[in-house]
Amino acid sequence: MEKIVSLAKRRGFVFPDSEIYGGLANTWDFGPLGVELKNNIKNSWWSRFVHQRDDIVGLDAALIMNPKVWDASGHLRGFKDFLIECKHCHERFKVEDLLGGGGWEKEYEFLETLSPGDQEKRVRDLFKKCPNCSTVGQFAVPRKFNLMFKTFFGPVYDEKSTVYFRPETAQAMFVDFKNILNSSRIKLPFGIAQIGKAFRNEITPGNFIFRTREFEQMEIEYFVEEKDWEKHFEYWRTEVPSWLKEIGIDSNKLHELEVPDGERAHYSKRTIDFEYDFPFGKKELFGLAYRTDFDLKNHETASGENMKYKDAETGKEFWPHVIEPSLGVERTFLAVLASAYSEDGDRVVLKLPPAIAPYKAAVFPLLANKPELVKLARKIYEDLRKKFYVAWDERGNIGKRYYAQDEIGTPHCITVDFDSLEKGDATVRDRDTAKQERIKIDRLEEYIGRGLI
Ligand code: GAP
Repeated sequence: MEKIVSLAKRRGFVFPDSEIYGGLANTWDFGPLGVELKNNIKNSWWSRFVHQRDDIVGLDAALIMNPKVWDASGHLRGFKDFLIECKHCHERFKVEDLLGGGGWEKEYEFLETLSPGDQEKRVRDLFKKCPNCSTVGQFAVPRKFNLMFKTFFGPVYDEKSTVYFRPETAQAMFVDFKNILNSSRIKLPFGIAQIGKAFRNEITPGNFIFRTREFEQMEIEYFVEEKDWEKHFEYWRTEVPSWLKEIGIDSNKLHELEVPDGERAHYSKRTIDFEYDFPFGKKELFGLAYRTDFDLKNHETASGENMKYKDAETGKEFWPHVIEPSLGVERTFLAVLASAYSEDGDRVVLKLPPAIAPYKAAVFPLLANKPELVKLARKIYEDLRKKFYVAWDERGNIGKRYYAQDEIGTPHCITVDFDSLEKGDATVRDRDTAKQERIKIDRLEEYIGRGLI
């Protein structure tokens, strides 16, 4: 993990946010190469799940929605964690982490019925040693903590102007359900896809970009008839891992976890968490949930608007049920980096699939002080970059330039030498095998493009 974090910073993938001011706890910025990799991951998802299908359409909704949305969705009541604080060192923990799982809610309800003295006794029985300072029996009574990020809409700071940054992109896809139905000719089963920011006031962010308070999600709400939910659930169960494989995530490191009753989100009847063997342990990469008709039904009740789907043939009106594959962009980014990172002697190679690598190729003149080589290399670079994002490097020796490109995952390095001037070709070196071949200059675009398919 340390190697990945250090490479990410050194080569401009990910930096600590506001670093000159000491940073902002567990907040990160994506640098020049990070933004490329992140965009390529998002574009690959969008291409596969929106552009290459007839049954899914896109959406890009506002981050701040009418707060009634969060009342109807159950987030104002149900989107919470339980926080426990050590009275000795004042470190805060998620109760779930200390107990090694969920199912704490019933115990909390019971705790609330006790007198303060009995509450303290019960807490001493349940929670022993502080993982931070090792003090025994010094935990305060746990508190419920809503994860929604609050702010004020407009110049008046009062309760009426309180709004929330969305904690999931999903709700807009339910709230806009009717607008999408009315403006497109889409029929069940169909999906709405969205990529965008979500915010959660996490109690314990950490593990680099794994858990942060501001992050991005790639979500699909797939609407189906109730009788078909299991069939579609099974479909998405293999479809998302198949895309993850396409972007280089090691399938052997992906594991399913059936989330038991009592531990699922308030809207879900079935959830599978897909965990990945991150360098810091096996943790959730993405989730697949069966949200039933919970959301559309609640929005109909709360708004008074009809949120049903009308079958054109039978005339039957009903709330479709929903299968939701939901991925975090940053977690996907981290799993991609972890899967791609490799060492070959002292050479670090980021074995990214070419389609998501920041640069598709790098172009070098063999010698920077030979104007004829620089001129031809520059021409190749300028032609190629009309099609692909391509790097230019003329510093230091060629070996060093290769190493620098290997480390950031550039699949091909193109070197222009004296033979190029006579024969109209260039040396193309492959990142993974380090093999070199001569390719005609007028075939370079096709050659690089072929690797992207
Ligand atoms: N709409 C369903 C939903 O939001 P979730 O399991 O709470 O479900 C979905 O979140 C995905 O979003 C997670 O599997 C994870 O990839 C990502 N995610 C959630 N919280 C996150 C956080 N604090 N930081 C980074 N990614 C997060």
